Amino acid sequence: MRSNEPPNDPPGEPPNEPPNEPPNEPPIEPPGEPPTNRPDGPHVAGDNSGRHDNSGRHDNSGRHENSGRHDNSGRHRPPAGQPDRTKRRGSSGPPRRPSTRKPPTPDEARRVALDVLTAVRSQGAYANLTLPGLLTKRRITGRDAALATELTYGSCRALGQLDAVIGACGDRAFADLDGVVIDALRLGAYQLLHTRIPPHAAVSATVDLVRAGERPGGAGYVNAVLRRVSEADLQTWIDRLAPDERTDPQGHLAFARAHPRWIVTAVGDALGGGPTNPELDAALEADDTPPAVHLVARPGRIDRAELVELSGGRPAAYSPYGVYLDGGDPGALRPVADGRAGVQDEGSQLVAVALTLPIVDGRDADWLDLAAGPGGKAALLGALAAQRGAQLDAVEITPHRADLVRGTVRGLPVRVHTGDGRHPDLPEAGFDRVLLDAPCTGLGALRRRPEARWRRQPTDVPPLTALQRELLESAARMVRPGGVIAYVTCSPHLAETAGVIGRRPQGLELLDARDYLPGVPDLGPGPTVQLWPHRQGTDGMFLALLRRT
Ligand SMILES: C[S@@+](CC[C@H](N)C(=O)[O-])C[C@H]1O[C@@H](n2cnc3c(N)ncnc32)[C@H](O)[C@@H]1O
Repeated sequence: MRSNEPPNDPPGEPPNEPPNEPPNEPPIEPPGEPPTNRPDGPHVAGDNSGRHDNSGRHDNSGRHENSGRHDNSGRHRPPAGQPDRTKRRGSSGPPRRPSTRKPPTPDEARRVALDVLTAVRSQGAYANLTLPGLLTKRRITGRDAALATELTYGSCRALGQLDAVIGACGDRAFADLDGVVIDALRLGAYQLLHTRIPPHAAVSATVDLVRAGERPGGAGYVNAVLRRVSEADLQTWIDRLAPDERTDPQGHLAFARAHPRWIVTAVGDALGGGPTNPELDAALEADDTPPAVHLVARPGRIDRAELVELSGGRPAAYSPYGVYLDGGDPGALRPVADGRAGVQDEGSQLVAVALTLPIVDGRDADWLDLAAGPGGKAALLGALAAQRGAQLDAVEITPHRADLVRGTVRGLPVRVHTGDGRHPDLPEAGFDRVLLDAPCTGLGALRRRPEARWRRQPTDVPPLTALQRELLESAARMVRPGGVIAYVTCSPHLAETAGVIGRRPQGLELLDARDYLPGVPDLGPGPTVQLWPHRQGTDGMFLALLRRT
């Protein structure tokens, strides 16, 4: 089989659910961070009041409540009502010895956040892959890591909104500014508009970063613009700058929820009713809510009950193999490290399992995954295939992703092929069940990829839908009469979902996918299914089940 790079694969898209290591399902928790159930720290960008605290455990400055805070000098302050054991005793007490401990560097968190923003802007880096490595390298842990995480991911998510406010407060075009000045302005504006960090601290700490950097000349401009940003809160900026809600509800929501307008349109269309659908706001807000970590207990390799016990997690609500993890580093769990379990969104588990549920007459021994990298669903299907005496062929066009699949499915009855799923070198009509988890815009997984909403472009959609259609044609050729195809995307965009299914090849009959997602609520009218983060708590997976007649 050929092993060329996929022509239409989303450029540089990170793996969806890297098998046994965090990358995509996760960086989740900064190294060394105490367990929390907020995978990327106390992010609060979804609250456009900019001033709430819905976790009950963190305030918006990125500090754990009840555990004391740092003041602006980086000194520790005790929680309310508790004595400050670090406080100097009165002058009548014995003289204190000068401390030999190195004072904390107050701006490590902001420095690392700024560096990641720079890498995201200038190198096309992924924030959730870059930040954890830098935190480890610089030995930033605890509250500083949590603050860095919030500032980095929050700034990435709110980017377009921050830029609009910055633009209104400055007199220079972005094109005329040094990159680091742009990054610092975004970082400062995020603190001012989306956190409880006192404005003077947000401004001065951010200006100091620029002053200490390679382009100190930009510090004055950053200072001036941030001061203007600080003159109003987020709601006031929305009132001033967002399009009028009555005449342009979509534009208003796009500004207020910090999404590109085309994504607001796509999500509104998928929900039905467009910009006036009251659910749209919740759907956009969910993109700012870091997902919980979901584990999959690969059947036949580990029981879910055992995984619950070993991980300290809880059984998932819908997937029979799912476990919700409340915190900690999933990669450090032995069952994840040895491949008996994996990190996998519950929605991904559900759609993979759904492929195995419709009864097929006669033979049921040969299964196919046409777009398998990095292998999360192939591993779950391979484990189920092993239990049923079947085997899986897994095709992936990108060589390094095919290698990831090989690593993930080790020990399972899965043959991995590096090649193009549009023309796999495999027998036509030779498969009883075929998964097509198609390359897509990933609009259903924006909560995992802080910068993705601004990087994706509407022009990405037509080449992806063309590829999706070609892959579905291939799936239709590979499945035998009576066999079943699951067409899956992690995008609710109608062009990638209903549009592809509506123009499907002849001879494919739609099954009611709701029948194969037992116990999952709010599945809509069928026969296809769209899962949503704000409804089911899963990624926004689309599923169509098709039987070849
Ligand atoms: C949505 S991801 C699949 C995720 C995977 N099912 C999992 O659960 O880990 C789509 C994959 O299709 C691959 N791909 C893109 N074009 C392809 C093609 N023409 N043939 C086979 N694979 C392709 C991409 O490289 C990517 O790894």
